[in-house]
Amino acid sequence: MKNAFLIGIVALALSCNSKKTLQSYSQLDTTYISHGNAIAKISFEALSSELQRSMQHGGIDSALRYCNLRAYPVTDSLSQAHYATIKRVTNKTRNPRNKADELGNFLIKGFGIDLSEGNALTPKLILKDDSVLFFKPIITQPFCLTCHGTPGKEVAFSTDSTIRKLYPRDKAVGYKNNEVRGLWRIAFKVN
Ligand code: HEC
Repeated sequence: MKNAFLIGIVALALSCNSKKTLQSYSQLDTTYISHGNAIAKISFEALSSELQRSMQHGGIDSALRYCNLRAYPVTDSLSQAHYATIKRVTNKTRNPRNKADELGNFLIKGFGIDLSEGNALTPKLILKDDSVLFFKPIITQPFCLTCHGTPGKEVAFSTDSTIRKLYPRDKAVGYKNNEVRGLWRIAFKVN
């Protein structure tokens, strides 16, 4: 059975005093979706190219320290550049600051079902308070398993011990290839 997942695009009035037609809402939605996709792509590329560079220079240990120190400054400066708040959120955190809320967990589950049923993973827009929230799944690739796979298998024991030192409450291991690791959550202020 096809998964009748989710909200789709929530096209509610973005501003009380503006009279927009349905047509203009859907145009606005398309704009947010394409901005969200572009920002997620830029952010992913910024993080993973830095990560791969530090892996090549100093091995996995230095890459782990790179993520530990640099992941937030990178997404924060991209947030400023794009007038949006860019976050990565997940149900199985490495850094507890990236913990998904109830809505995030719901979406992660839904995208997981879509992935396992072979449905398209369409980004979602949700209007919350004064922001349009864009959500897009982050899917694991073989490369990610070096640090998010199974300890003793893809994750070397030495890597595992560095992870535990940096993140004593780490839950972000045990992933396989092509699973939902988390979400890009990009918030655009609407007024
Ligand atoms: C060199 C090890 C390493 C590799 C390879 C790696 N990560 Fe991570 N990942 C980390 C570390 C360390 C953090 C915690 C960053 C922080 O402190 O903000 C993290 C955090 C994350 C988060 C934020 C959620 C959380 O649990 O804190 C996501 C999402 C994520 N990684 C996805 C990926 C994906 C997808 C790939 C592959 C494309 C990948 N990672 C490859 C080490 C790695």
